[in-house]
Amino acid sequence: MSAPIIEIRAVSKTYDAGRPALAQLDLEVRAGEALAVLGRSGSGKSTLLNLIAGLDRPTEGTVTVDGLRIDQLTEAGSARYRRERIGMVFQFFNLLDDLTVQDNVLLPAQLAGTSAGRARSRAAELLEQLGIAHHSRAFPGRLSGGERQRVAVARALMNRPPLLLADEPTGALDSASAAEVRELLVELNAAGQTILLVTHDTSLADACASRIIELSDGRIARDVTVAVAR
Ligand SMILES: Nc1ncnc2c1ncn2[C@@H]1O[C@H](COP(=O)(O)OP(=O)(O)OP(=O)(O)O)[C@@H](O)[C@H]1O
Ligand SMILES: [Mg+2]
Repeated sequence: MSAPIIEIRAVSKTYDAGRPALAQLDLEVRAGEALAVLGRSGSGKSTLLNLIAGLDRPTEGTVTVDGLRIDQLTEAGSARYRRERIGMVFQFFNLLDDLTVQDNVLLPAQLAGTSAGRARSRAAELLEQLGIAHHSRAFPGRLSGGERQRVAVARALMNRPPLLLADEPTGALDSASAAEVRELLVELNAAGQTILLVTHDTSLADACASRIIELSDGRIARDVTVAVAR
């Protein structure tokens, strides 16, 4: 069997002197999985995502992603890791409103030093694939929530990251837009993209996860592999 793309060993995270947000957590995620992380508010979901994204460090334990020890990276190393190995999608899109859709999507490639020609053709391919090519020159503020989230997904996939992370990607969307984003995540995973998503939205988890874990007080209370009828 291939090595896991995410390997979390005995990870604890304690903020200040409080109760641990994560307690002795072990988790392995394999390439090709679509893992949904559910759990009540305060159960540790965002904390877990931040550790995997290299945005924060565990108090104890190790976090390995794509063979790299994330918990040991320097600040520069962790910025580079985020640029090259992961794509992130957030509840409120985090697009730059004074750049066009196309320029938003190009940004990660520019930061990675990809040649302008290659970046432009990759952006065009993604915008086409995600059904937003006709909005390339528009500014994000003019798009619907679902369209904005598709732009955010295109941006996240620009550098072909082995891992796509999403924190409540449908949290700010109406039900029709949420359905669009759900379908998009299903398609991406069917095409082989590994996805880890944090959500309160059980219909999102049911629709696109191949595996669901539930956190409770910083521990995994449930870990279910879903039989997908696709
Ligand atoms: N920066 C921080 N400083 C102090 N405590 C924090 C910090 N971030 C999170 N916590 C605490 O850690 C625990 C887990 O928080 P976390 O944000 O991971 O929960 P969550 O499952 O993402 O919740 P939600 O569904 O509300 O987003 C909570 O008790 C929270 O108060
Ligand atoms: Mg959270």
